[in-house]
Amino acid sequence: MANVKIPVDNLTEEEAAAELAFLAAEIARNDELYHGQDAPEISDADYDALKRRNEAIEALFPALVRDDSPSRRVGSAPLATFAPITHSRPMLSLDNTFSDEDVRDFVNSVYRFLGRLPDESIAFTAEPKIDGLSMSIRYENGRLTTAATRGDGTTGENVTANVLTIAEIPNRLPSGAPAVVEVRGEVYMAKSDFLALNEKMAAEGKQTYVNPRNTAAGSLRQLDASVTASRKLRFFAYAWGEMSEMPAATQYGMIEVLKGWGFPVNPMTKRLSRVDDIIAHYREIGLARPDLDYDIDGVVYKVDELALQERLGFRSRSPRWATAHKFPAEQAFTIVEKIDIQVGRTGALTPVARLTPVTVGGVVVTNATLHNADYIEGIGNSGERIRAEDHDIRIGDTVIVQRAGDVIPQVLDVVMEKRPVDAVAYEFPKTCPVCGSHAVRERNEKTGRLDSVTRCTGGFVCRAQAVEHLKHFVSRNAFDIEGLGSKQIDFFFEAEDPSLTIRTAPDIFTLEKRQADSLTKLENIDGFGKVSVRKLYDAIDARRSIALNRFIYALGIRHVGETNAKLLARAYGTYAAFEEAMKGSVSLSGEAWHELNSIDGIGEVVARAMVEFYKEPRNLDVIDRLLQEVTPEAAEAIVATSSPVAGKTVVFTGSLEKMTRDEAKAMAERLGAKVAGSVSKKTDLVVAGPGAGSKLDKAKEFNVEVIDEDGWFERIKS
Ligand code: IVH
Repeated sequence: MANVKIPVDNLTEEEAAAELAFLAAEIARNDELYHGQDAPEISDADYDALKRRNEAIEALFPALVRDDSPSRRVGSAPLATFAPITHSRPMLSLDNTFSDEDVRDFVNSVYRFLGRLPDESIAFTAEPKIDGLSMSIRYENGRLTTAATRGDGTTGENVTANVLTIAEIPNRLPSGAPAVVEVRGEVYMAKSDFLALNEKMAAEGKQTYVNPRNTAAGSLRQLDASVTASRKLRFFAYAWGEMSEMPAATQYGMIEVLKGWGFPVNPMTKRLSRVDDIIAHYREIGLARPDLDYDIDGVVYKVDELALQERLGFRSRSPRWATAHKFPAEQAFTIVEKIDIQVGRTGALTPVARLTPVTVGGVVVTNATLHNADYIEGIGNSGERIRAEDHDIRIGDTVIVQRAGDVIPQVLDVVMEKRPVDAVAYEFPKTCPVCGSHAVRERNEKTGRLDSVTRCTGGFVCRAQAVEHLKHFVSRNAFDIEGLGSKQIDFFFEAEDPSLTIRTAPDIFTLEKRQADSLTKLENIDGFGKVSVRKLYDAIDARRSIALNRFIYALGIRHVGETNAKLLARAYGTYAAFEEAMKGSVSLSGEAWHELNSIDGIGEVVARAMVEFYKEPRNLDVIDRLLQEVTPEAAEAIVATSSPVAGKTVVFTGSLEKMTRDEAKAMAERLGAKVAGSVSKKTDLVVAGPGAGSKLDKAKEFNVEVIDEDGWFERIKS
């Protein structure tokens, strides 16, 4: 994008011919990396830029168009466009656990949530976590109708034709199976098939693949299903989506049913009750791991009884009734070449180690986060030592790096024997490397300790913070504006011409208008083109109306992530009501403040951060300008609209006997109610058990309906 390439108009014929040859080869190479190997080296935006450059040169030099030009290739660059499929039930992910202690915590949390005593045993299943791609396969009246990838969990890609070529997946179910069945599980490639494929590729002088997972993904995401058919893909069934009828009452029973229907299920699946047995099975699977013909990255534990799974329900992204116990991460030795400081959206200065490239578990690692100044010194978040006294991280040090799954690699320890004699302790900057403002560590009021984060005090003055704010604003879970990625934001932010600059979010929405009256046209700038500019404007216009929770999330208020943004959107319903409440909370007292704090899930730290944000005139100005361009939609009424408590604000108080407090809350939320922590004028219903105190008095004061636990069950039955 807008790099040092010669503008197309200035190319000589010779230069044009040479560049077209280069582009034909380069685009073909990237096509193969993307489609053949699922291992792209460049971003989609950069790839598009290559193609646009090719087109622009060809437009100027039509006589030079090559036979092998990417623009000529029939169905050129089959950019995988599979039709979207919305999952009938979301495909969720799993929480991770890493230690035996985490596993005990998980098991205890299940007992606590359900209010069970340790001697009332709860059974769990334990099975390998397959490192492949999850798939949802739907059968109607016994016939396979659709198959979809997980996608973002809500919507996946329709890969039915490809899945039909996988021999291990039955196309039909035996008679007697329910009318609607959705089988979920993992598509993977066996290690032996992967190695054989690579041998064949090497023999043919072709580039080999990186690992079985990526190869499986690449093989599946082929528009031409015959390619999928030629790769041996396999499947393990371990879950389900929509079922018109449940053929079993336990997880283990369901696995047996799936097996009976002809699906491969993992033979190492066990049903166990004691934590020690669960952990022993984890070790056993770990020992078997090297000899298995497929990659696994952990063991999944699930509460066996489906009725209990139902009661436990879900957190925002993952079920409370399951967890993935991951195998230890992979490690390697390398050298810290330098330490860079990155400045984030909230001004946090994050040190990043630039490493001599090294492969860790098959992936090349060149960077590792060093988190903060304490981490470099060897001190953890609570002030504890995480490495031996003198094992601070220095430039030139040989270090052990670790990679676990997809998380950013970490530096674990320093190999002291290899420390260069002239290595000096790293001095953390006292000023922001971007804007030069002071960088400070705040003191935590509660603990009295210095915050681990060093923050730039430049605020709006700091370009890094402003740019990161914009990047957050357009990111996938915020405004998600197609064609406006990180690189484009950098470009627009730096652009000098007033008709091109984007420095704050509202500028995005005035770009087209400013461009209309300008002579400096975006479409003439290298990296853009007429078509892409039109697409960009359309993508921007498509976001002039946006869900309230996305809008709130996009504002980039500290501590307000997606989950909190959803809570806030639900609680206030409209942006106007939300803003009024935030402005009304500035005194940190009064009704609005009280109400904000009574939103279940919103703690004081979050509430304070929001008030801070709304106290800043610059923020209010940006929001005002933004609201002239964008309309946040009123938050949707919550899921279960037909339930008698949908949309009601409920408070539970006193001791509950038939359910635990957590369970009551989760149940009410599933039925579409809001659960508040304290009683206010806006409370609709108080469910009081024995021993209820001041909340009952408040309920009387505000004339709020009070019922007991039996009354609650009666109410939600109707
Ligand atoms: S259960 C609601 N079981 O892991 C929970 N998932 O990190 C549904 N996975 O997206 C998932 N092996 O792709 C489950 N035995 C197993 C699994 C498994 C692999 C994958 C799956 C899921 C991811 C979550």
